[in-house]
Amino acid sequence: MSIAPRTSQETPAGSIHIEDLPTMEIMEETDLVYHQLCPADTFEDGEGKPFHVDGTHLAAFKFEDKFYAVDNRCPHMGYPMSEGSVRDGVLICHWHHWEFDLKSGACFLAFGDDLKAFPVTVRDDGYLYVGLARGERAAAKRRVIERGKRALERGLKDRSSFFIAKAVTALADAGAKPQEIIQQGLHYGAHKSSDGWSSGVAILTLAANLWDEVDPKDHNLFLVHGLVQISRRTTGSSRPYRAPFPQTKEEHDLTTLKRWFRYFVDKRDGGAAERILLTLNDRGYGKSVLADFVFTAATDFYFTGDGHALDFANKMFEALDYVEWDGAHEILRPIVIDLISRTRHEETSRWADSVPVLEPIFTRLDDIWKENQANEAELDISAFTQTLLGDDFVPIVAEIEEKLRAGVDPTDICRAMTYASAIRTARFHLKNEGDWHDVANIYSYAHALYCVFQYAPSADLLRGIFHGAVFLNYLRWLNMPAARIPRPGQRLDETFESVDKMLDRFQEFADFQKVYEAEILVNQYLEDGHDVDALKRALAHILLREDAELHMFQVLEVAFRHYALTDDTEEKRMHLLAATRYITAQKLMKNILWSTENAERLARGELLSERDDDD
Ligand code: FES
Repeated sequence: MSIAPRTSQETPAGSIHIEDLPTMEIMEETDLVYHQLCPADTFEDGEGKPFHVDGTHLAAFKFEDKFYAVDNRCPHMGYPMSEGSVRDGVLICHWHHWEFDLKSGACFLAFGDDLKAFPVTVRDDGYLYVGLARGERAAAKRRVIERGKRALERGLKDRSSFFIAKAVTALADAGAKPQEIIQQGLHYGAHKSSDGWSSGVAILTLAANLWDEVDPKDHNLFLVHGLVQISRRTTGSSRPYRAPFPQTKEEHDLTTLKRWFRYFVDKRDGGAAERILLTLNDRGYGKSVLADFVFTAATDFYFTGDGHALDFANKMFEALDYVEWDGAHEILRPIVIDLISRTRHEETSRWADSVPVLEPIFTRLDDIWKENQANEAELDISAFTQTLLGDDFVPIVAEIEEKLRAGVDPTDICRAMTYASAIRTARFHLKNEGDWHDVANIYSYAHALYCVFQYAPSADLLRGIFHGAVFLNYLRWLNMPAARIPRPGQRLDETFESVDKMLDRFQEFADFQKVYEAEILVNQYLEDGHDVDALKRALAHILLREDAELHMFQVLEVAFRHYALTDDTEEKRMHLLAATRYITAQKLMKNILWSTENAERLARGELLSERDDDD
């Protein structure tokens, strides 16, 4: 119940103010607007009543002849405090028994958040009034955001997908920007681990990249995926502190710093390499300088970490741009671990035949780069894709050198490599099940290289193209036997009343891992010219419903990006078929979906204890 508010200046003379007003936040009376609640004599002693006043949820209580009001939403999980009970001035939430000082809202649990308490008064008209600050709604929103951030930190520490989901839902409902949530996750993931760049921070970056292409109903779920993965890879203890070099009158030149950086990465001395990166950041060198250091070191070795070092470094720079380099001092650090600790494939027997072929080419890099920059030539991406899929890597790398010397843009070769990787993925036979990561790695790596050539091009980076081409060639065995790809014109033996029904069927095929049927449906959908954005949202939803791992997210992003880059219908088709195959073929669980759905139900005020399948 509520009526038009009266300001404190309009307070009738002689109104009774409760002596012990709650004092969590002492407000000047002129800052308050008093709202009538209900007749004071309708309360039993110890009774609580709920009110909704001007957008604020309140629980008002009478206890030992005095009145009190607090936020009606328990800071733990939102249970209505008006349903709680009061014992000796202590308000007890009945759901998980958190206890609060009724007068001030202080929580007795060491790590529990306080309840906001509000001043109340009984006036001459016999009604109970509550004083809300002007701008209480905005203040409440800020409180919820700050509480949500603390809750998120706790959820990450506890590795609880439900608490993470609850914090994300609360933050989103309070109007926190995704950028704030992603920045917190990136910073936590970098700071609370001594490990390298993790799948969690990469997924958060992918959430930022794909935000507008995913159904808004799936936004929370996307964030929860990244944050849960971060919680699993962090221990809660902090990375040892490292500082940039002390300022000196004469600073080191970049050539020296880069030589040192490569030397320390080569020697696997992470601490020294980290300090150099931190010094560059501290001295205000921009992304292009930092990126040049990192990508040169990443390609100093052969396909470092199955391409992950280069791929994660690209994600790191995308993430830093997204959060406007807020917290860069921490977010930059993990990539050094990827540079020093991941497999260098020149040390593996698998690459023993390619190293002697590539080494002579790498002695000519400066020449190749010079010619490339001086000349200009077009690349038939579709034809060169077939070249890259050839059986023997020796003529392939020779042709790459020839194209580069002719002046072909390296990004076009990366696009062809990405297209070829899509074909490798679409032709990946289900019987190879243990090697799915390999096709995802080359697909994501080729796309990362395409991105990096746009902001940190160099002669040294050309090595990344040759590394990728050789790895793609090694994966030809994963297409033997090659899986069927739906033929152009191939359709399902059923008709659909609407596009929505068709997409529902897509979801069903995915649920039952009917991989080939899902691919034929996508083939038909594209040929019928239906809305591709809706198909992309459906595919993203299929992925997000599962406890998906990083490679699935990577494949999704690459498919979306390269679908948009090309006008070639067959190339477009192949990217979406590759993503469909990769995502629908994985057999997973749905714990993250259930945690997020429960958190969202709670936020809507639904009770988890109620069945949701009643008629
Ligand atoms: S203690 Fe209040 S909702 Fe858990």
